[in-house]
Amino acid sequence: MTTTDWTPRVLVTGAAQGIGRAVAELFSERGARVLLLDLNESAPLTNSIAMRGDVSSAEDRARAVQIIQNEWQGLDVLVNNAAYQGATGSLLDVDEAGWQRALDVNLSAPMLLSRACVPMMPPGSAVVHIASVQGLFAEQSNVAYTASKAGLVNLTRSMALDLAPRGLRVNAVAPGAVATEDLLRSVQQSENPIQTRADYEDLHALRRLAQPREIAEAVYFLAVPASSFITGVTLPVDGGMTASFMMAGRPV
Ligand SMILES: NC(=O)c1ccc[n+]([C@@H]2O[C@H](COP(=O)([O-])OP(=O)(O)OC[C@H]3O[C@@H](n4cnc5c(N)ncnc54)[C@H](O)[C@@H]3O)[C@@H](O)[C@H]2O)c1
Repeated sequence: MTTTDWTPRVLVTGAAQGIGRAVAELFSERGARVLLLDLNESAPLTNSIAMRGDVSSAEDRARAVQIIQNEWQGLDVLVNNAAYQGATGSLLDVDEAGWQRALDVNLSAPMLLSRACVPMMPPGSAVVHIASVQGLFAEQSNVAYTASKAGLVNLTRSMALDLAPRGLRVNAVAPGAVATEDLLRSVQQSENPIQTRADYEDLHALRRLAQPREIAEAVYFLAVPASSFITGVTLPVDGGMTASFMMAGRPV
């Protein structure tokens, strides 16, 4: 099979905007059927189904599985992208509910959704988690997010080992700072947008932000059969940020 003959059935969580949207668009443009699962309404794509739901809800996960079974009778690619990024705070001041929400959405939901999907994924299928450079290194005053993403990095390894006997692969990408709508808005709303953007850019050896499409290309690569011998890895897609101990973990 060549890449152009590959028309997988794909579930992308958090597909209404940002990186998830770019991933869904890329797969759709390349002939995939895509289920877009998001808390918010997702604009339709060719051959797509949009579902509103919360990945941390058992009921909503079951509903997604039911839709996939009814419409496609199986799934080839699961992209766990949805995340809760609202629980900022240090060890001493993060609120407990925020900590729990970060773990529920960023770590437990990818595990539980994967477990629900695996029975309908044939050999050769792939799971791709969206982790973060903050799952590889910590950032000050972001204890919930960094811990949840680090958990996702090792969940990737555990799942790869457990699912290899079924012929399934499991990998993750760890983006640096990505020029999503929300990130660009927060830059604009900062006191000094030009300086804030430059600070973000300077975290990366390439001295710029990633475009969402650049993350989507890495996700596509880890899902497509061309990467058939890669499993259990977290691929930094970070413009060289984690190549240097000087950049990794430097506060923005
Ligand atoms: N933007 C960055 O710079 C960056 C960097 C590293 C990693 N990431 C990771 O990439 C992923 C996407 O981030 P983004 O910046 O595109 O985010 P975003 O906030 O722009 O989009 C996230 C989408 O997920 C949806 N979502 C959130 N919680 C959900 C839930 N419980 N159930 C269903 N949908 C839910 C939101 O409605 C939204 O549409 C996340 O896992 C994030 O941690 C982002």
